[in-house]
Amino acid sequence: MKPPTHLITNFTKIYRRPPTLLSYAPGRVNLLGEHIDYNDGWVFPVAIDRFAWLAACPTSSDVVTIHALDLGEDISFNISQLDDKLDPQSRPLPKWAHYPAGVAWSLQQNDLKLKGFDAVLTSTVPVGAGLSSSAAIEVAFAVAWQAFSGWDVDRMSLARMCQRAENSYVGVNSGLMDQFASLHGVAGSALFFDCRTLEWEPVPLPQGIALVIADTNVRRSLGDSAYNERRAACEEAVHILAMHLPNVAALRDVSVQDFENHRHLLSPVIQRRAEHVVRECARTLRGVEELQAGDASKFGALMLEGHASLRDLYEVSCPELNALVEIATDLPGCYGARLTGAGFGGCTVNLVDRSLAEPFAQGLSKAYKKRVGKEAAVWICQAAEGAGVVDRDLQ
Ligand code: GLA
Repeated sequence: MKPPTHLITNFTKIYRRPPTLLSYAPGRVNLLGEHIDYNDGWVFPVAIDRFAWLAACPTSSDVVTIHALDLGEDISFNISQLDDKLDPQSRPLPKWAHYPAGVAWSLQQNDLKLKGFDAVLTSTVPVGAGLSSSAAIEVAFAVAWQAFSGWDVDRMSLARMCQRAENSYVGVNSGLMDQFASLHGVAGSALFFDCRTLEWEPVPLPQGIALVIADTNVRRSLGDSAYNERRAACEEAVHILAMHLPNVAALRDVSVQDFENHRHLLSPVIQRRAEHVVRECARTLRGVEELQAGDASKFGALMLEGHASLRDLYEVSCPELNALVEIATDLPGCYGARLTGAGFGGCTVNLVDRSLAEPFAQGLSKAYKKRVGKEAAVWICQAAEGAGVVDRDLQ
């Protein structure tokens, strides 16, 4: 893994010594299984070749100092005084700093000893675009602390600790998919992940296809109450359905047939949310089989169904995302397209015939500009490996 050179030169300039460690963690797209992780179901993400990068050098104090290269901001926090979300001068930490501070808090909640360090952070994962820029930052810090501090925690536990940072420190009730994907990425493969049993397996992407990401350039923060509201709606559905169906602990446990037989018990809004989840679980299981059989057309059709469900039932799409999906389906070589991540803006992921991927990307951005009047960033992405560290002493 090749670090961005400006990361090292900037570190050396700012701290007047070279970094001793570099860590990296990828963002992700999700191919199927949206808003399913917190319903204990199955998801199908891909770690992508966009990374959060950290250059760091340990200090002898409890203070972590971070220069955020992309923002031109410096912050610091004391790892033994994290509860108030203040810096050592008692000023409130900016929101982005809650991610690394939250990871420090969460690791220590698990009795892991941490060291202070000086760091420079940069990322090629676009922020707030539904590609898990926040999970990438959390994971890049977690693996750096692991390397500095000498303890050895398995990757799934590390993913859960990063998720806890986001749930309990940042205040977003997100599931485990993003941190899982950032830590478990496999080059060339999608990751079939069971969010209840935590079992997973890589599924190689068929040779002849390309994944194209298209960014609407519409942003909406995950912290928005809408995400937490969706999760609460699912919990309400479980609460009601469990009174009538045995062994239902999460919406993952409700079959399509059982849902149809009991949907009248739910209010119209809760019905729509639950229907998306129940059908999306089934879609994901079917989709994984189709992709394993190399059937890009059938998989793509399921992606389109998934998008319609996110648009009409879960109501997390927006006009710009819908426009990108509609334009994509009319372009040659497109097997499927859908919004990816939490929604309310951000990106679509497109499954495209590899030989037509370039003209597809150009056609999509041109037609989006014409129809919506905004620029879309469109690029072909590669399925990447998960987070890691580059030890500078070993180079
Ligand atoms: C965000 C959350 C994930 C997941 C997706 C929707 O990315 O962080 O846990 O719920 O939204 O699938």
